[in-house]
Amino acid sequence: MKGKVAIVTGGAGGIGSSICRSFVAEGAKVVVADIDYERSNFLASELGDDAIAVEVDVKDEKSVSSIVESAVKSYGRVDYAIHSSGNNIKSPILDMKMELWREALDTHLTGAFLLCKLAGKQMVKQGEGGSVVFISSVAAWAPVPERGAYGPAKAGLNNLAGLLSLEWAQYDINVNTVCPGMALTPMTKMVYKRDPSLRAQRLKRMPAGREVLPQEVADLVLFLCSDKASHINGVSIPIDGGFVNAGFLPEEMVKLRIDDIQI
Ligand SMILES: NC(=O)c1ccc[n+]([C@@H]2O[C@H](COP(=O)([O-])OP(=O)(O)OC[C@H]3O[C@@H](n4cnc5c(N)ncnc54)[C@H](O)[C@@H]3O)[C@@H](O)[C@H]2O)c1
Repeated sequence: MKGKVAIVTGGAGGIGSSICRSFVAEGAKVVVADIDYERSNFLASELGDDAIAVEVDVKDEKSVSSIVESAVKSYGRVDYAIHSSGNNIKSPILDMKMELWREALDTHLTGAFLLCKLAGKQMVKQGEGGSVVFISSVAAWAPVPERGAYGPAKAGLNNLAGLLSLEWAQYDINVNTVCPGMALTPMTKMVYKRDPSLRAQRLKRMPAGREVLPQEVADLVLFLCSDKASHINGVSIPIDGGFVNAGFLPEEMVKLRIDDIQI
């Protein structure tokens, strides 16, 4: 990936930072784009000349356009756009406040639309193709109770990837989603702190007996951006150790692969 440039929204997060490190390890330059500038700047400093940090709110069009401008100003182009920004807002639908619904929907889904529109224009202008990957979730198929717009937004991401695969195949830009099961990142740790019994309950539904590692998600993202995956377009790939198929899984078939379920 030498000479290529990646934008990663939510780049300072648990999964996003693994993706940023992996792009740099493959020789690409990275724009670490996150609402948390302190953490993005920390990561960009670690990555040296191969990365810059940009403060962005993916819900805002002007803010997202500044990521593309920074990428072009610093590195001259955009080849990969990865949308990993996210939040996990807890509320049952009956009590859901409109602003919280919008916060979740816009961070996950509208942010992806804005990133695609603005980074997509740059890729089309360059005329050399590119790749887009959304970090969706198994929640696209298995909605999470009391998480409001989270599942609906993730289902929307999968559909948006399908739509763009039709509109952008002519430009050699492939658009796919990666759908992790539970991963132990700051977001998940926050959820487990809120509800300490949840991790044990979820692990019993995981055929693999463990969470997915952020590096495993990053490896799949990098593969989808590589030349080897150029004919994979518009698909949503679960990376969940079989979790989405586990409706009938007997608890006794699960062999835990972790030493301690306490966070
Ligand atoms: N952790 C999991 O178990 C899991 C499972 C499936 C899918 N995912 C998805 O993976 C993605 C990354 O999650 P993570 O676990 O790394 O969480 P994380 O909280 O570590 O990372 C999310 C990042 O998004 C940033 N962000 C939030 N709102 C933003 C905004 N408006 N604009 C720009 N950046 C913003 C945060 O600052 C944070 O750095 C999310 O989309 C999440 O839904 C996570």
